[in-house]
Order: sequence, then C-alpha cells, then structure tokens
Amino acid sequence: MGFFDFMTEDIAIDLGTANTLIIHNDKVVIDSPSIVARDRISGKIIAVGKEANMMQGKTHENIKTIRPLKDGVIADFDASEKMISMLIKSIPALKKRMFTPALRMVVCIPSGITEVEMRAVKESCERVNGKEVYLIHEPMAAAIGIGIDIMQPKGNMIVDIGGGTTEIAVIALGGIVCDKSVKIAGDVFTNDIVYYMRTQHNLFVGESTAEKIKIQVGAAIEDLETPPEEMSVQGRDLLTGKPKQVAVSYREIAKALDKSIQRIEDAVMETLSQTPPELAADIYNTGIYLAGGGSMLRGLDKRISQKTDLPVYIAEDPLRAVVRGTGMALKNLGKFKSVLIK
Ligand SMILES: Nc1ncnc2c1ncn2[C@@H]1O[C@H](COP(=O)(O)OP(=O)(O)OP(=O)(O)O)[C@@H](O)[C@H]1O
Ligand SMILES: [Mg+2]
Repeated sequence: MGFFDFMTEDIAIDLGTANTLIIHNDKVVIDSPSIVARDRISGKIIAVGKEANMMQGKTHENIKTIRPLKDGVIADFDASEKMISMLIKSIPALKKRMFTPALRMVVCIPSGITEVEMRAVKESCERVNGKEVYLIHEPMAAAIGIGIDIMQPKGNMIVDIGGGTTEIAVIALGGIVCDKSVKIAGDVFTNDIVYYMRTQHNLFVGESTAEKIKIQVGAAIEDLETPPEEMSVQGRDLLTGKPKQVAVSYREIAKALDKSIQRIEDAVMETLSQTPPELAADIYNTGIYLAGGGSMLRGLDKRISQKTDLPVYIAEDPLRAVVRGTGMALKNLGKFKSVLIK
C-alpha cells in the first residue's frame, strides 16, 4: 500500500455524448454538458460544461467550442481528458484537497465500442489519476439504475436513447444476450429539426435553438393527448437575411423526427427478433424500459409500444439512470464483478 492510497476516492462516471455525470459518496456531484471551449491562440481550455455550453454558437474566431464525444465515443482525446480532469477537480469535496486523490473509478461505455476505443477510455481515466478503473456497458448500467435485478435468469429489454447513440440490449443472468447500437439519438433529432426549419420555414436556426424546440415542442407522434403549446422560434431568414420569428407546433416536429424514430423502431424490432424465445417470453411480460434523455420525447413510449405491442416504461429520472447504475456497481464491486470490465 502506497503512502497516498488511504486517500483513494471512489467515483462513478457516465461519460456521455451530451452530458457527463459523476457520482461521489452516493450523490450526483457533477451533471454537466459534455463540452469545452478552447482558446485557439493559447490552445488552453477556457471553459467546461455549462459555461462552455453557453458559448456554443456564439463564439468568435479565437474561441472554439468542442464536444469531445461523438456517437457515444471519444472523438477528441485531448479535449475529453481535460474535460474529465476539470470536472473531477470541480467535485466540491475534492476541491479542497491539495492533491488530486488516487481514484477508483467505474466508467460506462457504449455496448458497441471497439477494443481500441475501450482501451483509450481506460487510458484517459488512468491519466487523470485513475488507479483502479473498471468499465461497464451502458445498457447494463441503465438496467441496474432502473432497479432491475440483472443477475436473475429473466430477460429484460433496455433502450437507452442518449445524445449520440441509442443502445438496445436484452439482459439476463448478468450478461448482455443480444444488443444493437445505432447512431440515431438526441443529436440526430436536433439536426432533423435544423433541417426541417430550413427547408419548411426558410429559417436558419442554430443547434442550441433546435434543441430548445425539441425539448419544448418535440414529439414522436402527431396525436398527443396533452399537446404542448406552439413555440415561437427566432432565427435568420434564409431569403432576406433578416432575423425573423415563426410559430412551430409539436405536429411539425413529429413529422421532422419521423424517419429517425423509425430507424430506432427498426433497431428495436431487429433486436427483438434476435432474442432467444425463452427471453422473448419474459419480455412479453416485463415490457421494454426506456432510459436516456431521448426517452423524454413526448409520445415516444407510446409509439414504441404500438410498434412492438409491448408495454413500455420510462425510467424514473431517465437522464440519470445510467450514472445511478454506474454508482451502484461502484458501491457493490463484488456483486457486480462479472459485469465490470477491468
Ligand atoms: N425533454 C426532452 N425531450 C427530448 N429530448 C431530450 C429532453 N431532455 C433532454 N433531451 C435530449 O437527451 C439527450 C441527452 O441525453 P443523455 O444525457 O442521456 O445522453 P448522453 O448519455 O450524454 O449520450 P450517449 O449516451 O449517447 O453518449 C440530448 O440530445 C438532449 O437534447
Ligand atoms: Mg448515455
């Protein structure tokens, strides 16, 4: 045991394409957009998380905002490592420390990740003082976070719709029996809205505005029982170049997102068709669990339920299901040994 080992701290990280969350001492201590702002001249990271997010779309030539993860995996290693390191250092309980303590970490990774990408995540964590690093597949973490007993000889289907990927998995006996990962999730929905606004309203809107539209009037079906009110959206008129405002309804957004949602449905259907019959029988009874920010899209649960003829449940606090599960795995390393990748 080294001199500093008594200072080891346990943290669980959900390093997501859209949001990074950290649990320390059983509490979510960091819940921040996965974004950094870099000064192009000095190369220094000048802001991280919420602060960097506010700069998005409003930078000038000397500042660049970067989202270090794309499609669920690290796309910019340098930026991602700095982001992780800065977020860890900003954990209130660790801020007061003179040194960054040695860390025991559980970090979740998409199920479709390659060996090389997996090693890269692990090495990144080691460089930010991770002395003992375990990885866990996202759908597994989501299942644990939802409160499913994953060790049972019983099949459960999880669909985690994040920012970069939708992860679909059938889990039984502590393992992933079949899974599918598609690069259609929140970011694609946002881009669909940008495209829709441009082509249908001649209005050029930025990503931040499109995301606001998605959250305020986003929908997966055109016949919602409790529809949101129309939203006024401002942007730049593509024809005149002047700023302008248009009203957008949820029905329009349901149209804009239809094709992408269809691809998620197809992936769910495909995974169901690959599920062994005994587990399919279980899923007939247990239904499908949705997690991730994308699962909050109005009517998405209903739409998937109609498509699959299965009951569909949205996880409680879906944005935090994965980090909750990651935190539970960290707390019970022994119990979840078989699902953790060392
Ligand atoms: N109310 C909402 N309706 C629709 N989408 C939403 C809502 N709230 C958040 N989102 C979307 O959820 C996404 C973020 O979800 P989440 O934090 O689960 O992703 P992530 O874990 O960062 O990504 P990934 O798991 O793909 O790496 C964003 O695209 C965000 O726009
Ligand atoms: Mg996620």
